[in-house]
Amino acid sequence: MHDPKSETATLHAGGASMQAPLLKGTMGPDVADLRGIQQNLGIFSFDPGLTGTATCTSKITFIDGDAGTLLHRGYPIEDLALNASFTETAYLLLYGELPTTPQYQAFQADMNTHRLLNEQIRNFFNGFRRDAHPMAILCGTVGALSAFYHDGLDISQAEDRDLSARRLIAKVPTIAAWAYKYSIGEPFIYPDEEMSFSENFLHMLFARPGNHYRVNPVLARAMDRILLLHADHEQNASTTTVRLVGSTGANPYACISAGIAALWGPAHGGANEAALNMLQSIGTREGIPSFLEQVKDKNSSVRLMGFGHRVYKNFDPRAKILQATCHEVISELGLERDPLLDLAKELERVATEDDYFVSRKLYPNVDFYSGLILKALGIPTSMFTVLFAVARTVGWVSQWKEMIEDPAGRITRPRQLYVGETKREFVSMSDRG
Ligand code: SDX
Repeated sequence: MHDPKSETATLHAGGASMQAPLLKGTMGPDVADLRGIQQNLGIFSFDPGLTGTATCTSKITFIDGDAGTLLHRGYPIEDLALNASFTETAYLLLYGELPTTPQYQAFQADMNTHRLLNEQIRNFFNGFRRDAHPMAILCGTVGALSAFYHDGLDISQAEDRDLSARRLIAKVPTIAAWAYKYSIGEPFIYPDEEMSFSENFLHMLFARPGNHYRVNPVLARAMDRILLLHADHEQNASTTTVRLVGSTGANPYACISAGIAALWGPAHGGANEAALNMLQSIGTREGIPSFLEQVKDKNSSVRLMGFGHRVYKNFDPRAKILQATCHEVISELGLERDPLLDLAKELERVATEDDYFVSRKLYPNVDFYSGLILKALGIPTSMFTVLFAVARTVGWVSQWKEMIEDPAGRITRPRQLYVGETKREFVSMSDRG
């Protein structure tokens, strides 16, 4: 029972009661502090998907799912997407303020020196099949980075945390690009310290020895905006994974590798790859009605990929920006209208007029349009989630740093509602019939 006048919520259980303090943030709903619930009432709280549970305090990103608001350190995503670069946003997420020009230049120059990988890491790639999913390569190789970078691992030291954070932001794109090159049998392209983050990433993906690949500024700008829009998103599944693994004191490379593994799932970051595959399987607008019938059929596991969100219940602000970017990229590249873009827009129109989806508050999320832009940029479908991981590494390391620096931090160890057997006597095998 939450007494709107008091600053506590009263809980009663088993004849006992407790006053749970209501913690107030700078924005968003109050949070009932249930840390004393076991001690005072002898009970646990139950929230399997953590749908209504705040697991930490944070200053990095604020989301209002009903209003479709997304702020990074107080700045609206729309303003950042239109005015800031991905690297500038990385500085903001890491350090809490937009950089001055000298700060930005020093940050960028230092980050660029970390793009190169220890040369022995090249040997990792030869251990994978050529047709290995690049997320498998990324997850494994990032997890092994602590075998090469022994300095910067004393996470109790601020300079070590910062060094590892910058290394991860700078090296993940190199591993990602090399995973792609390995899959197509082309030589690795080494990072260029003179290029911007997105120019360098595109260069490592598409340059080839002997040809002077020129990064198209339109593509670089689009890539930069896509990365920026995917940089951080409050306590999503992969960020929660990074925080949980980090709470054990594991090294930062292991934490980010765990985040990559969590992001890979089709319910999370794997949705951009799944959404494009879905559009290709629907094929034409004539295929939409039968597909949506499958989605509505509770006996089928078919989902409308790129739709729905745990938090956004009206629209995902990133999807709106990506839809506009999609048009920009396709027209500025002079590509003929992509039939899949027309199909996506028709699918969005039909679904958002269908009560099944409207009543369940299902709207396009960040993954619905991102795949179409990446396809227009020439990124293969198998690399879509890898690109999401390249971007989200910034959010993961920022949230990891914040968690480590939280003096109230402790190992994350939830409890359960046990529904198994009560205590029973052991029966030897010979007596089991
Ligand atoms: C990302 O958390 C983040 O912030 C994630 C992310 C980030 O930046 O980190 O934003 C990135 O992961 C975006 C989401 C990408 N995933 C997809 O597009 C996959 C398809 N979407 C669904 O799997 C689903 O919508 C989730 C996983 C995103 C959300 O799952 P929830 O919170 O369990 O869904 P819900 O409670 O809102 O569902 C309500 C109803 C249910 O039906 P009923 O039981 O009420 O009949 O809607 C149904 C769900 O079955 N439903 C869908 C659906 N999503 C929900 N039905 C068909 N298609 C869907 N996509």
